[in-house]
Amino acid sequence: MSLDDLKYVKVKTHPTARNQAVSTQPLLAGSIVLSNQAFATVLFENQKGRRCDHCLVLSETLRKCSGCASCCYCDANCQTRHWPSHKKLCKRWNSFASSNEFQALPPHERLDCVLLSYFASPLSANDQLAIFKSLLPGPTHHSPPPTCTPVDGADGLYDRFGNNNFTIHSHLNSFAHGIFPLASRLFNHSCTPNAAARYKLVRGQAVTMEVVALRDIAEGEEICIPYLDPALLQTRQQIFQLTYGFQCTCISCEGLKSVGPIPDVPQDPARLAALEYRLRTFIGVDDLEHCVLRTKPITQSLPSEIRCFLKEDYIEHLSGVFSQSSHDGPYDRALDSGTTLLAMYLLIYPENYPQIGMHALELAKTAWNASMPMNDIVRRQHAMAQVRACLSVSRRILGLYGPEGDGGGPLAEITTLQQLVDQEG
Ligand SMILES: *[C@@H]1O[C@H](CO)[C@@H](O)[C@H](O)[C@H]1NC(C)=O
Ligand SMILES: *[C@@H]1O[C@H](CO)[C@@H](O)[C@H](O)[C@H]1NC(C)=O
Ligand SMILES: *[C@@H]1O[C@H](CO)[C@@H](O)[C@H](O)[C@H]1NC(C)=O
Ligand SMILES: [Zn+2]
Ligand SMILES: [Zn+2]
Ligand SMILES: [Zn+2]
Repeated sequence: MSLDDLKYVKVKTHPTARNQAVSTQPLLAGSIVLSNQAFATVLFENQKGRRCDHCLVLSETLRKCSGCASCCYCDANCQTRHWPSHKKLCKRWNSFASSNEFQALPPHERLDCVLLSYFASPLSANDQLAIFKSLLPGPTHHSPPPTCTPVDGADGLYDRFGNNNFTIHSHLNSFAHGIFPLASRLFNHSCTPNAAARYKLVRGQAVTMEVVALRDIAEGEEICIPYLDPALLQTRQQIFQLTYGFQCTCISCEGLKSVGPIPDVPQDPARLAALEYRLRTFIGVDDLEHCVLRTKPITQSLPSEIRCFLKEDYIEHLSGVFSQSSHDGPYDRALDSGTTLLAMYLLIYPENYPQIGMHALELAKTAWNASMPMNDIVRRQHAMAQVRACLSVSRRILGLYGPEGDGGGPLAEITTLQQLVDQEG
């Protein structure tokens, strides 16, 4: 796959401005803009032995490589396909992995060691390697970590690691890192992107990244993906500077700049509750049963008393409160904090962002749990209406994003919960 074989996206060059990846035709929300098979992948340490090192599929009957006993495969096919890139590491891996030099590295650099080692193998000499080498290096030079086997030009390659980083996820939970040169080459970042990556796992094949349109995209429009979670409202600019060497000027960043310094979140519980209520009504989600989920990008028209919520540690705190109370109760607290969090998501994420759909599903489950011990028929009907409303939002958004990674997951959970709700009548 090279830049010339692309169908829905092309690189628009400009004599003075930067290159942009733009759509070659109008694209509907949910369509796949690009499929890009991984050049190299590495499992997180806690996934080793649970997933195949070639195709990353989960399996309970993996077979260990008899050479190193470190890599595991579904079967002989996966092992054979992985061998060209594994060959050089296999023999030396155990002594390298137990060396002080390797042991002293932080976990993400250990992953980099493995990824960098892929560049040592002859199979690497393909289109994707050429594309990878053509990527822009990050703004700061770091010496490459040690590799298990010598890699030509490791310095120049490593300079392209930090800013060409993809975390592979299943059901939006991260489990591996990967290099996808074509996707790196094409898509710039936006905190309010019109596309996002999902990962397709097929037994026997290298993982494929699919870039999905989150909304309808016009012909010639630039296609952007998020390089990091836009919820990092304050730290994200710093990360752009340090890791990518640019300043983000998307509408969310411009909006955030226009509201100026963010006041502190009030300490007084009554005052805080009143402001949270104000936030939910401003976004239009206070009544979950009838809420119309519309994203509202941050702008200067955000009322000044609720600007205090634009602190990323508030979002983090709120999601902690929600996840704890949604599992252990009390459910009033869970529904309350979960609805406020939904309002925040609509403020910071773009339309159809998968995290909004995931959160709506969690809210549906919470409302379902809350409805269970209720004898009061009116309150119970109200709770069921909330479940239905959240489920329908979740189905729409996650259905558009499509299935990702392992089987089951949120789409299956939606179907199960929907059946339970339908039985209630
Ligand atoms: C991913 O990003 C982190 C943080 O910037 C960096 O340390 C690491 O080298 C990157 N890894 C890859 C595979 O790009
Ligand atoms: C990506 O977009 C940012 C603005 O958001 C811009 O500053 C940067 O130059 C762009 N990067 C490339 C490689 O085009
Ligand atoms: C709902 O109840 C189930 C079973 O009691 C529990 O496992 C789960 O954590 C609860 N909360 C959510 C959000 O699913
Ligand atoms: Zn496999
Ligand atoms: Zn081996
Ligand atoms: Zn931005």
